[in-house]
Amino acid sequence: MQQKFNEKNRDLKININGELIHRDEAGISPFDSLVQGGDGVWEGLRVYDGTIFKLDEHLERLRRSAKALAFTQIPTRDELVEEIKKTLAANDMRDGVHIRITLSRGTKITSGMDPRLNQAGPTLIVLAEHKPPVYRDAEGSSGLTLCTSSIRRFAPDMMDPNIHHNNLIQSIMAKIEANAHGADDALMLDQRGFLAEANATHVFIVSPYPAHAGDDTPVVQTPTTAACPEGITRQTIIDICHEHDIPCVERDISMTHVYNADECFTTGTMGELAWVGKIDGRVIGDGKMGAVTKRLSELFVEKTKSEGVRVVS
Ligand SMILES: Cc1ncc(COP(=O)(O)O)c(C=O)c1O
Repeated sequence: MQQKFNEKNRDLKININGELIHRDEAGISPFDSLVQGGDGVWEGLRVYDGTIFKLDEHLERLRRSAKALAFTQIPTRDELVEEIKKTLAANDMRDGVHIRITLSRGTKITSGMDPRLNQAGPTLIVLAEHKPPVYRDAEGSSGLTLCTSSIRRFAPDMMDPNIHHNNLIQSIMAKIEANAHGADDALMLDQRGFLAEANATHVFIVSPYPAHAGDDTPVVQTPTTAACPEGITRQTIIDICHEHDIPCVERDISMTHVYNADECFTTGTMGELAWVGKIDGRVIGDGKMGAVTKRLSELFVEKTKSEGVRVVS
């Protein structure tokens, strides 16, 4: 799965610390913590018809991540919303838009890792792009193809995946493996060998799990967040399951259970729900989009239409 350049994004205006700058001119200092050490946190948000789905959940995850990294200044929710609104207005955007908010520890007085070298306050970047859900083309009639990466996700005592930070090398290494294998994305395991997530999305399987439902009822299953971020789309799917009495469980899932699942799908703000047709050469279920995945996708779309926070009038 390779994204393509979208002509609609040729003249984007990017918001850097409140200033709106053409994409060809926008930049940050070589002394910025993002350049120096990937020392920043970020969020991806999606705009649906003038509203942002789960806006407060995203901004709260950004705040929690920055707090965990001991940032001394974190913009308030209202300040962030103001900059988002400004950016969307400057680009005349209201639908099919993905926003990437990045908050770095800011510029340093000299090169170095020490956060005490940061004396200028944080750098805030609001990048809004025209970007429909990114897996739509790749899904086609055979679903996404995944392969299992040799790169493991960290445990919380290594680099806690619940800090949504800018050190993306681990995910990029896994994506390189997926590219080399001709797969759309890569599955990543935790340190114990259980499924953690994919390189940029969470993973769900659907299959009977008698230990939870007691019979052959399809159960929606996903790993715990021990080795993956507390995903907002992931949580939305769990909530939808609870609201609609669809059995759902968070548990350790081995690759044998993944290969034998009736259905598999990924979740994330960038790509919403995307169904998986093949993993490591094994066809998942009957190789078609499953009934539970289809229902959850429809219920998810309904929620995005009714629950967003308005940012474009
Ligand atoms: C590593 C990783 N996994 C999964 C996701 C999907 O999470 P969400 O549903 O909150 O977009 C993200 C999104 O940023 C991510 O960075």
